[in-house]
Amino acid sequence: MRHFIDFSDLTMPEWEELYRRCEDILAHPEDYRDVARGRAMGSLFYEPSTRTSFSFQAAMLRLGGGVFAMSDPGVTSVAKGESLKDTVIMCSGYADVIVIRHPGEGAALAASRYSRVPVVNAGDGGHLHPTQTLTDLAAISRLRGHVPGLRIGFCGDLKHGRTVHSLIRALSAFPGCSFFLISPRELAIPGYLRDFLGRSGQRYAEVTSLEDTLPELDALYMTRVQRERFADPAEYERHKGVYVLTGDKLRAARRELLILHPLPRVDEISPEVDGDPRAAYFEQARLGMYIRMALLMRLLDQPPSPLPPLTGEGGPRLCRNPNCITARERYLPALEAHGACAYCERPFAL
Ligand code: NCD
Repeated sequence: MRHFIDFSDLTMPEWEELYRRCEDILAHPEDYRDVARGRAMGSLFYEPSTRTSFSFQAAMLRLGGGVFAMSDPGVTSVAKGESLKDTVIMCSGYADVIVIRHPGEGAALAASRYSRVPVVNAGDGGHLHPTQTLTDLAAISRLRGHVPGLRIGFCGDLKHGRTVHSLIRALSAFPGCSFFLISPRELAIPGYLRDFLGRSGQRYAEVTSLEDTLPELDALYMTRVQRERFADPAEYERHKGVYVLTGDKLRAARRELLILHPLPRVDEISPEVDGDPRAAYFEQARLGMYIRMALLMRLLDQPPSPLPPLTGEGGPRLCRNPNCITARERYLPALEAHGACAYCERPFAL
């Protein structure tokens, strides 16, 4: 069973095929309105969402399929203490595909262990958000014409921003991209991502000034400071509003700059920027539905499989990351990949 937990679940030719399909759906939406007739998407959102949950639901509806959704765990058996495992086993008996967003890092990988049907990671805590990455790559491809060689600045809360983590990893698979990581030092990218960038020989610079970096860029990926991920509210207060993109600052930027943002925006892009022809974030969000249609089609095109064997449950917990899914769902077996926790990717020793 092929799931979609990280962008690396696709090969480069598979991504190219997905993007071609997205373009074809944009050009001929009527050709696709029956392809998922009679199929059901189970949508399990344990965290707030607007674009991701709406665009997935709209994508499934536009393919002719149906949706059942949990958008508030408080009104389901989760409020009675049901485990992720039990919810997913049950849901995978009703759905043809499951889309899950959860605050635990590695939750989608954990869910895929208990599913008869493909699982899609719609955001796992501060870890990854690979369908936003598909959206971002579709926007870059369509609006710039190609991805390779992109000089992209990521600005804001790079420590907690899962969309940033996913996109950096995905862009590393395209030749010649360079990354300008613009953040306060306290909100810099996590160590595992820096190790990845070093290991894979990517060109990147960690800087603090948006103004100084702006003229260098083909694309600027703005992000909000992720209030819900701070253990200490005072720390959030210290960092909120740290970067604001204004019309004034944009004067120093290239004419063909692409201004991206996964949204929601708080105050990091001034409203006067919305009218600038370089502002691409609303078009980026619109494209998200089409690329998710292409993804759903691909995942639904697999025969159903039996429930995977339940092995290794209830052993000792090895990961010490308090945000890892194994800290919440204690029965999960400890899984190791490259000396790190396979769920959240933090080294076991830390
Ligand atoms: C992002 C997310 O949920 O990580 N939103 C989205 O899915 N488009 C970004 C964010 O919340 O800041």
